Amino acid sequence: MRVAMIGTGYVGLVSGACFADFGHDVICVDKDRSKIEALKRGEMPIYEPGLDALVELNFRAGRLRFTTELAEAVRSAEAVFIAVGTPSRRGDGHADLSYVYAAAREVAAALTGFTVIVTKSTVPVGTGDEVERIVAAARPDADVAVVSNPEFLREGAAIRDFKHPDRIVVGTDDPRARDVMAAIYRPLYLNAAPILYTGRRTAELTKYAANAFLATKITFINEIADLCERIGADVQEVARGIGLDNRIGTKFLHAGPGFGGSCFPKDAQALIKTAQDYAAPLRIVESVLAVNDVRKRAMARKVSAALGGNLRNRTIALLGLTFKPNTDDMREAPSIALVTALQDGGAKVRAYDPAGMEQAKAVLGDVTYCDGPYTCAAGADALVIVTEWEQFRALDLGRLKSVMARPVMIDLRNIYRAEDVAAHGFTYDSVGRMPADGGEGMPARRAEGGR
Ligand SMILES: NC(=O)c1ccc[n+]([C@@H]2O[C@H](COP(=O)([O-])OP(=O)(O)OC[C@H]3O[C@@H](n4cnc5c(N)ncnc54)[C@H](O)[C@@H]3O)[C@@H](O)[C@H]2O)c1
Repeated sequence: MRVAMIGTGYVGLVSGACFADFGHDVICVDKDRSKIEALKRGEMPIYEPGLDALVELNFRAGRLRFTTELAEAVRSAEAVFIAVGTPSRRGDGHADLSYVYAAAREVAAALTGFTVIVTKSTVPVGTGDEVERIVAAARPDADVAVVSNPEFLREGAAIRDFKHPDRIVVGTDDPRARDVMAAIYRPLYLNAAPILYTGRRTAELTKYAANAFLATKITFINEIADLCERIGADVQEVARGIGLDNRIGTKFLHAGPGFGGSCFPKDAQALIKTAQDYAAPLRIVESVLAVNDVRKRAMARKVSAALGGNLRNRTIALLGLTFKPNTDDMREAPSIALVTALQDGGAKVRAYDPAGMEQAKAVLGDVTYCDGPYTCAAGADALVIVTEWEQFRALDLGRLKSVMARPVMIDLRNIYRAEDVAAHGFTYDSVGRMPADGGEGMPARRAEGGR
């Protein structure tokens, strides 16, 4: 199949490269000239494991091309995917659909022959209807079907997720569009990936409902973690205890500093707005977002408590800045609220992240960036693990202690065992577990309401 991918970001580039790898003829379009030039030179504009090799292989094979000329790509395509950003709209939190609609107008102008326009961006219910209206108004002569095909990949594991999806959702009532989509995804359902055909609005809502549910699961266990800290229970054991129940499942039950990223916060917000517009408010999702917003900043209180309640002139070393490991994406990362809160308390912040420091520099001011975990920890009064990159899982604790001003570790991802860290002479705190020096029962510090 001949495919045009409009928007060559995290989703567009991964989807385009994977479709090319399936054997389709793919042209990725972006209006960001520097991105396209970099890709033509073989440089990846984003960090995603395995993506450089996949792009290179398919580029060399001639199945994957890059251009800034949307019209040229659309003219020959049987399917045009729109994978542009849908950020939160400033002011009201609705999804900003201006990029999607602008792309639809440009696509409309270039259409020739029957073409399937596929919305891969996460878009609110009714967006497909509007895209259809835009195209019909601009090109009453055009023969098109507008399909919703939301993407469920996770950054950091995007290629695997794309090639081995739990399901593919295709929202259309048009039999010709169904045939085109079936041909595009055929290599996947040969691998037995379920393909779910639904109405377009149902497909649009399915994506938001999935993200809202996952965000709810994370927030639920985060609140249970807070309760564990008050009562002297261990959230990891609780999570395992409930997760082994097949009705619940073990995934997305890791307590931490709150969810971030380019999707959950904005998608939960957009879903809340849609639900309010349709007078069917989603109170649970509203609570999830409110709880999560407060949580990120509250993590600074943990750091403060571990330092006796005072952050002024303390040096805090942060390991990990991106919203999760294996990405350079800083959008809505919990580190942003944490850094601000630490700085508001008078602390100096040092940081190291394996892939996200360039993006972090654009959103975080007054941070000293370091070239590794030990240089980051040097002279610090506390070390905070913010993102659970693999390389932070087996730090040399003796070496860390020797370079730090005080041996204090706050592990916001629960990747260490309290006993192991304490055995090296650290004061250690984590999320929803007993601090290393806490002993049995309610820790004195917490009983005093220290956090
Ligand atoms: N990032 C994820 O993990 C993820 C997962 C699932 C779904 N999504 C959804 O996919 C969509 C894209 O997300 P992303 O993270 O890839 O965004 P992104 O910001 O990384 O990429 C969007 C790209 O589109 C380009 N663009 C915008 N308008 C254009 C136009 N008219 N013509 C050509 N290019 C244009 C931008 O220059 C940019 O490179 C969003 O709706 C998002 O919610 C993202």
